Amino acid sequence: MSAEDHAADGLAHTAAPAVDLPDFPVPSHDPRAVSDAIRPDARIALSSSGAMVLLRHADVVAAARDPEVFSSAVSRFLQLPNGLDGKEHAAFRRLIGPYFTAERMAALEPGVREAARQVCAEVAGAGAGAVGCDAVGEFGSRFAVRAMMRWLGWPAGLEPTLVEWVADNQAATRSGRLDATADVARRYDEIIRSVLAPRRGSGGDADGMRQDVTAELMSDRALGRPLRDEELVSVLRNWTGGDLGSIALSLGVVLHYLATHRALQDRVRSGVTRGELTAIVDEILRIDDPFVANRRVTTCPVSRGGIQVPAGQRVVLNWTSANRDEEVFGDPDRFDPDGNAGNNLVYGTGPHVCPGRPLATLELCVAVEEIVAAFADITLDPVLRPERSITPNGGFSSVPVVLTPAR
Ligand code: HEM
Repeated sequence: MSAEDHAADGLAHTAAPAVDLPDFPVPSHDPRAVSDAIRPDARIALSSSGAMVLLRHADVVAAARDPEVFSSAVSRFLQLPNGLDGKEHAAFRRLIGPYFTAERMAALEPGVREAARQVCAEVAGAGAGAVGCDAVGEFGSRFAVRAMMRWLGWPAGLEPTLVEWVADNQAATRSGRLDATADVARRYDEIIRSVLAPRRGSGGDADGMRQDVTAELMSDRALGRPLRDEELVSVLRNWTGGDLGSIALSLGVVLHYLATHRALQDRVRSGVTRGELTAIVDEILRIDDPFVANRRVTTCPVSRGGIQVPAGQRVVLNWTSANRDEEVFGDPDRFDPDGNAGNNLVYGTGPHVCPGRPLATLELCVAVEEIVAAFADITLDPVLRPERSITPNGGFSSVPVVLTPAR
């Protein structure tokens, strides 16, 4: 969900296909409202830039699982592994996979939990009374940055820079301005390069490196050679970009849902297993998916939903809409973690399915576990209103909540 992925790809707009499709307006508030309104009557809509937006679950799944026709080579920027297809993509997935194993996540859990506890304690402050807090900006971003720095072994001193960057990145993405998105992307590359530099031994020798996930990636030979500098930056950018923004947004959605669904909040507080909590979090994110869409481009003519799609057509897989398709889920707001799990597309599907899902799940579950342990009550702020993110993000840009500390 990096800024440049959505706004500054530099691709020319494709000509609109010669068929009569409903317009897909740029959502000005909740992106669900736009797709919910169009989807019952249409399978596909046309964005203002000429991209075909797939709205239905079946079409999104079919396209995501057919990378030979629906290519991910949509950006002029190097995006590893997101922008690759075929064998090259598979090679990078083999390199990335081992960083997200269950063993690694179990080893990381205590550090992630400590990060969540620290943020809860900071939010609670010194007093014993209820406190106001923005679940996205104050809790989510701070927690996401801290958890990620522990995972990658980045220095704690980077936290303010990264927290500021998350906010600037979201503002630049919202602005849609190419200069702003290019600027945040450049700043991020500088941050990553500043992290890589001290890990290089003399001449970049692996022996001189610090031992952490970043150092491990620098000395990884899964491709049969070390990663080049620009490849390292791209892989790390997609890990951290994927992590920081989406975890903060997801926590906003989850805490908003718990604040507005008291019985569920009580159930989570009274004790659920990790498996149950994972299913609950996944289902909340299905209902209100903050990771709205990914892009593809067709490599040959293809028929979709009775429509002839030409080669070279830009296509948008709208996960948020597919996750609310009435044909699959009935009432899209009906909360059914077990029943809906098999069709949940929050983490995508097909060869590009999110490799970071185990880390995202760990971070979200641990954050929820710690916040319900630290606070006996989570409610929406009675005065300040939650603000919806605007395209291309979903979820909320801020969720003011009131947290009442547990005794
Ligand atoms: C709640 C959090 C997250 C959500 C909802 C999410 C969602 C997604 C989705 C839908 C895709 C599929 C993209 C496509 O088909 O084009 C994806 C891919 C990806 N995600 Fe995540 N993600 C999350 C967290 C993370 C984390 C924590 C990481 C890494 C640390 C990560 C790294 C990636 C990468 C590298 C890809 C590209 C995979 C490829 O192209 O093969 N994501 N994610």
